[in-house]
Amino acid sequence: WWKSVEPAPTDPILGVTEAFLADPSPDKVNVGVGAYRDDNGKPVVLDCVREAERRIAGSSFMEYLPMGGSVKMVEETLKLAYGENSELIIDKRIAAVQSLSGTGACRLFADFQKRFHPDSQIYIPAPTWSNHHNIWRDADVPQRTYHYYHPETKGLDFAGLMDDIKNAPNGSFFLLHACAHNPTGVDPTEEQWKEISYQFKVKGHFPFFDMAYQGFASGDPEKDAKAIRIFLEDGHQIGISQSYAKNMGLYGQRVGCLSLLCEDEKQAVAVKSQLQQLARPMYSNPPLHGAAIVSTILGDADLKKLWLKEVKVMADRIIGMRTALKENLEKLGSPLSWEHITNQIGMFCYSGMTPEQVDRSTNEFHIYMTRNGRISMAGVTTGNVGYLANAIHEVTKS
Ligand code: LMR
Repeated sequence: WWKSVEPAPTDPILGVTEAFLADPSPDKVNVGVGAYRDDNGKPVVLDCVREAERRIAGSSFMEYLPMGGSVKMVEETLKLAYGENSELIIDKRIAAVQSLSGTGACRLFADFQKRFHPDSQIYIPAPTWSNHHNIWRDADVPQRTYHYYHPETKGLDFAGLMDDIKNAPNGSFFLLHACAHNPTGVDPTEEQWKEISYQFKVKGHFPFFDMAYQGFASGDPEKDAKAIRIFLEDGHQIGISQSYAKNMGLYGQRVGCLSLLCEDEKQAVAVKSQLQQLARPMYSNPPLHGAAIVSTILGDADLKKLWLKEVKVMADRIIGMRTALKENLEKLGSPLSWEHITNQIGMFCYSGMTPEQVDRSTNEFHIYMTRNGRISMAGVTTGNVGYLANAIHEVTKS
């Protein structure tokens, strides 16, 4: 039956974790996958999550969730993106379903796009999270890329991005990272977002935001929703993928949300019913436990406050490690500029290292990162930052 099946290529991100785990070296460092670690390099379960788990322990409810998932979790999640007192929520203009984290939200949207706009394509930033390409490929939606990152400045290619928005056919679908762009750590400024939003309006493009890192850019989820709020003020009909993998540390719980802003309540009801119909043959209905954790935290003022504090602790530790990595490289006398380490934001530093330099850092120093030179700053600690800086210096100096 399966004679013709060849092994699939290794995943460029999760494959790094596999290689790291297989390496017996005591010196090994994993700065591959974007998963938060504390300063001892250990995964973290947030205190707000532990308390929520305590409260829901022994729950007698193990029934199926509805196809659209937990209504309470979705309600709270929409407030984070659209605003606590958003009229759009009050007017029931948003079609939203619980998703299998951010990947599941993106995939559900890609399938929805294919079903209702079968001839459309998706504009994806260059570069982007590698899985975005897989998602729209498997949904059979043709992909185009738009300029985003400027390799020389290691910042935003704003002119290239604006040109691509202008030159795309009217009414194109665009994937935007709401904040803490993955892999580059480069976000447009508020002014630039306003210009982007204006140009989207002129062209009638559809903005789909992937917001996997709300809270990790500034340390404050409210501030990190800025791009979305600008688009909402300008009256766009937007779509959003939200995830609690990073900002609540609920990686393995697979809890998130897909929302699409509609013209009115009637349209929202129709859109939601179609999203549910897409979900039903794929996974029927989403899992319960992670959603219960999220709604317990966000539905309780004290637990929400604790969560906001803990998000800031995670974001601040990463910011501190950016400074430490840059200072260590400077101390080693690196002739290169490492300003971008502290200019970039979120979980990742797009180091500028070539695939060959990355290979050397892995082979000679047991440092694991994706071959595009992305360093997950969440894996950097006071204990390994010196070792990491030395390896980067050694492989980049000649
Ligand atoms: C990453 O980019 O490292 C994370 O989003 C994890 C993943 O699923 O790729």
